[in-house]
Amino acid sequence: MQYKKIFVTGAAGFIGFHLSKKLLEQGYEVIGLDNINDYYDVNLKYARLAELGVKKEDAESWGLMANAKSFPQFKFIRLKVENRKALPKLFEQEKPDAVVHLAAQAGVRYSLENPEAYIDSNIVGFLNILECCRHYQIRHLVYASSSSVYGTNAKIPFSEEDRVDYPVSLYAATKKSNELMAHTYSHLYQIPTSGLRFFTVYGPWGRPDMAPILFTSAITEGRTIKVFNRGDMSRDFTYIDDIVAGIIITMNNPPVKKGEKPYYQLFNIGNGSPVSLMKFIETLEKELGQVAVKNMMSMQPGDVPRTWADTSHLNALGYSSTTNIEEGVRKFVAWYKQYHNRK
Ligand SMILES: NC(=O)c1ccc[n+]([C@@H]2O[C@H](COP(=O)([O-])OP(=O)(O)OC[C@H]3O[C@@H](n4cnc5c(N)ncnc54)[C@H](O)[C@@H]3O)[C@@H](O)[C@H]2O)c1
Repeated sequence: MQYKKIFVTGAAGFIGFHLSKKLLEQGYEVIGLDNINDYYDVNLKYARLAELGVKKEDAESWGLMANAKSFPQFKFIRLKVENRKALPKLFEQEKPDAVVHLAAQAGVRYSLENPEAYIDSNIVGFLNILECCRHYQIRHLVYASSSSVYGTNAKIPFSEEDRVDYPVSLYAATKKSNELMAHTYSHLYQIPTSGLRFFTVYGPWGRPDMAPILFTSAITEGRTIKVFNRGDMSRDFTYIDDIVAGIIITMNNPPVKKGEKPYYQLFNIGNGSPVSLMKFIETLEKELGQVAVKNMMSMQPGDVPRTWADTSHLNALGYSSTTNIEEGVRKFVAWYKQYHNRK
């Protein structure tokens, strides 16, 4: 184990929760941070934290470190990453070895409604993380970028060598900016940074603003589902366990110095086999045993028709995405039913 103490931001979020759990199971010490914002149901965020052993009443106070009951190696603090006073104090106090930065304002569509949230969390917050990595000798920063940086890229599959200078949403623009800022800090201050461009992550404890939960709740409640671009879309759906495995592989493979190039690397992390939206809906219908009432709609502004990851660079480090859509949807639906029945 080359690192012992990992600082995970966005730990009450979908990916951050799963990553924290896996790291704890593998024996790492984890400091989790999240502002628990209400972009989607906060009860889901508190329920994820409860799975990690942190009770809601301990998690909700701002700036107070909560200790987990079931995982003694886990601590959680509610904080905004853009808090310029508190974040450095936390780094000073906890001295993490590595940082996995997943906290961000996510979602393409919401960036048209509330652009300020994206600048605060994704730009100001990211700078604050970089500054802390610089001043507290963090040995490796792994951060979340997104497949959305590819915009309407015509060439498929999307490769890290493709130009990504044409974002079609502010969300994508903030993620591309993160990659540029990371490069600058790697160059100026020799901070090893690894960016991961996530491709449509799904699975248990997933995000309620994304298609799997939106569709599942509508289908089971007999409501109409919105099918954008009249179904003529495809996504490289990637199952959460594959994503978590890929984050840990990346964390344990920091960039190596090559000549004058900075300690900087960037990877696609996806499934590598896109699924059409109609096929995805069909798989969900089969698993739920119910047919969706579909409202065929036009393309949403800021959205892209397809994504498809070329993951060969990350594969070279040992990553492979092994969960197909049928298996992933089955596991997701099993969790969805169990989670909604317990309420
Ligand atoms: N899920 C996907 O398909 C996907 C795809 C591409 C990129 N990403 C990126 O991966 C990361 C994790 O995504 P996710 O799906 O787990 O999203 P999520 O919204 O479930 O998790 C993000 C967490 O960060 C927290 N957060 C937001 N702003 C914050 C701030 N200013 N300070 C502290 N905490 C803050 C939120 O409360 C949330 O719990 C994000 O950076 C996202 O942009 C996700």
